[in-house]
Order: sequence, then C-alpha cells, then structure tokens
Amino acid sequence: MRIDILTVVPELLESPFKHSILKRAQKKGLVEIHVHNIRDFSTDKHRKTDDYAFSGGAGMVMTIQPIEAAIEHLKTQREYDEIIYTSPDGEVYNQQTANKLSLKKNIIILCGHYKGVDQRVRDHLVTREISIGDYVLTGGEMAAAVMVDSIVRLIPGAISDETSALTDSFQDNLLSPPVYTRPADYKGWKVPEILLSGNDKQVNDWKEKQAYERTKQLRPDLLEKHDRE
Ligand code: ADE
Repeated sequence: MRIDILTVVPELLESPFKHSILKRAQKKGLVEIHVHNIRDFSTDKHRKTDDYAFSGGAGMVMTIQPIEAAIEHLKTQREYDEIIYTSPDGEVYNQQTANKLSLKKNIIILCGHYKGVDQRVRDHLVTREISIGDYVLTGGEMAAAVMVDSIVRLIPGAISDETSALTDSFQDNLLSPPVYTRPADYKGWKVPEILLSGNDKQVNDWKEKQAYERTKQLRPDLLEKHDRE
C-alpha cells in the first residue's frame, strides 16, 4: 500500500510515522508513506497556497492550483483508489472505514487548513471526505495521522500477532475485554481467578461476556449495531 499526504504544514507530520509499528511496517515494505508540501507545487512567486474568500468573511481559502498540480503530478505515476479530504464536514471515521481503506492500494490524503479548500477541489478532485469526530481541529494533519495509524496497523504483517488486530475494540462493534498481566496479586488487587485457570474455553467465554457487558455499560450505541449484524 502507498499513502501520499498533501499538506501546507509538512513539519506536523515529520514524526508520527517514524516510530513503533508504523516504522516497522514501512521497513518491512508493507506500506510507503510520503508527505508532500503543497507549496512546492504553487506557481505563485511567493509559493502562496491560499487567498481571500470571494464575498469576504474571516479566514483564508486554499487555492485550487497547487492542490491540482500536486494531485496531477502523483496521478502521472500511479492510479489512486481514493483522494480523501480531511474535513469536519466529512463522514465520521470509524473502524469499518479503517478496515476498508487498509485494503486499498494507493490513497491520497489532502489535509484541509484555514477555512478549507476551494469548493471546486471538493467537487472535481476529491473522492471522499472524512472527519475524525465532531470537533474542529486547526488543520487536517492530525486527522491524517490518526487515519494512517489506524489503517497501517490493519495491513497483514504489520502487527506481529496477526490475530490481535481482529480482537481490537470495535472490530465487532464490541469493546475489548479487560486485560491483566503479572503479578496476579498486587497489594491485594487480584486478577480474576478464571484467567489463571488454564481452561481456554472458560477463559474465552469469560472474555466474550466481559466484552459484551462492558459495551452495554459504556457504549450501548455500539451494542445496538452489534446485535443487528
Ligand atoms: N479538520 C478540522 N477538523 C477536522 C476533523 N474533525 N476531522 C478531520 N479533519 C478536520
């Protein structure tokens, strides 16, 4: 898989992909992540990428020219399955969307900034708009980092125990059961007896029940989806 990110603040994305699972996935050749500065594609002598909104109003708007040039440049090299624009107006991101995106070959993520992009970019270039939640960020870079992180860990081989991504919270619209590690007794705080029993069947039943109960208590909205599917 290849992910190209277009941004006017590439510095914000210098570090998030250089550590841990994302670093390893790139090293193993499972994914390529490229961050591009939209400014590099501006034909303006000051490398401008924004302008005032027609009809006024506060805030600058990202212009079409450098964005289109960046996308066209990438498209001459390969085909893209999706050109995603990060925006609070988009479909709200969730695990199902991450699952689907992790199966794509090449995607572009265009990070919105200021008041966002000229509407014509959204109408003619973008294939999908995604929000990471109902709140407003200063720009789409953090949203892009969140998406890339959640996508890359789903690529087979990215996580050493390949079953572990399948047991994540949200995979079946259920939260994960609680987990414990040594010591079995910390100053009287005890691990549930069943987990020390060695009885796999009983342990699995217990985990399923815990996941269900936890979801019922903390995220009843998810449980409705789980019971429907
Ligand atoms: N840009 C600003 N806010 C955002 C959000 N919630 N999700 C994605 N991109 C954004």
